[in-house]
Amino acid sequence: MTNQFSLDGRVVLITGSSQGIGLALATACAEAGAHIVINARSTDKIEVAVAMLRDRGHQATGHAADVTDQEQVEDMVVATERDVGPIAGLINNAGIQRRAKFLDFALDDYRQVMETNLVAPFLVAQSVGRRMAERGAGRIINIGSVQSQLGRPTIVPYAASKGGLLMMTRGMCADLGPLGIQVNSIAPGYFATELTEALVNDETFSQWVADRTPAGRWGQIEELGGAAVFLLSDAASFINGQTLFVDGGMTAVV
Ligand SMILES: NC(=O)c1ccc[n+]([C@@H]2O[C@H](COP(=O)([O-])OP(=O)(O)OC[C@H]3O[C@@H](n4cnc5c(N)ncnc54)[C@H](OP(=O)(O)O)[C@@H]3O)[C@@H](O)[C@H]2O)c1
Repeated sequence: MTNQFSLDGRVVLITGSSQGIGLALATACAEAGAHIVINARSTDKIEVAVAMLRDRGHQATGHAADVTDQEQVEDMVVATERDVGPIAGLINNAGIQRRAKFLDFALDDYRQVMETNLVAPFLVAQSVGRRMAERGAGRIINIGSVQSQLGRPTIVPYAASKGGLLMMTRGMCADLGPLGIQVNSIAPGYFATELTEALVNDETFSQWVADRTPAGRWGQIEELGGAAVFLLSDAASFINGQTLFVDGGMTAVV
């Protein structure tokens, strides 16, 4: 019997994958057989991540690029398709957080969050999507958040960007579905990474996460890999435009 969840030989580009959730998704997809393209801005961290995957016997290549820069994005996609192969899967994962009360939020910080979390996925998906459309096949996953659906104090731009990404996923599904491209979103709950370090170290906040989550704890980043492998695999061949919340039940309850 063929393994419906295999990603054997498929090239998967994951933005912001030198650490944290992106690297966990990269590891899971590599274990399922994909050739992973690791992306971030910092070359050092890319090299470490690529070496780690190769040491484990996986196929991996690195490409440094700032995904908010259209020229760098286009160069990365051209180089990947030329040197590694046609991109079968794209995960728009790179994301940043800035915190301040709404009335004090600096416009520059607001713009930075939007550029990384909402403009960059558009740029990368457009560049990769044009090539997928020529081949009539491809999978795109946008990494949202529980903030795709829930607000919280001090993170208005983050919530706006992740809420926007949920609707971008649906809009992309409408435009790209007829071209053979499936677009879905994974919306993680609270996971301990560099992005959330301050929150993890804040005992009161950490306890609030445990109390607010039916699973009673923070997520481990390894728990996100299965959703990505599934959505990139043949097992998800008729799933399009959906947002899968991997949040221990947080968005299901008040
Ligand atoms: N951690 C959580 O609990 C959580 C929950 C829900 C959703 N998420 C989402 O999951 C994604 C990953 O989060 P994380 O916690 O793993 O973050 P992280 O640990 O801060 O890692 C972010 C990654 O993105 C890269 N990056 C940032 N800006 C970039 C840019 N302009 N171009 C290319 N790469 C860039 C970083 O490398 P460089 O700095 O070298 O570029 C790094 O590899 C984000 O979209 C985040 O919103 C996280």
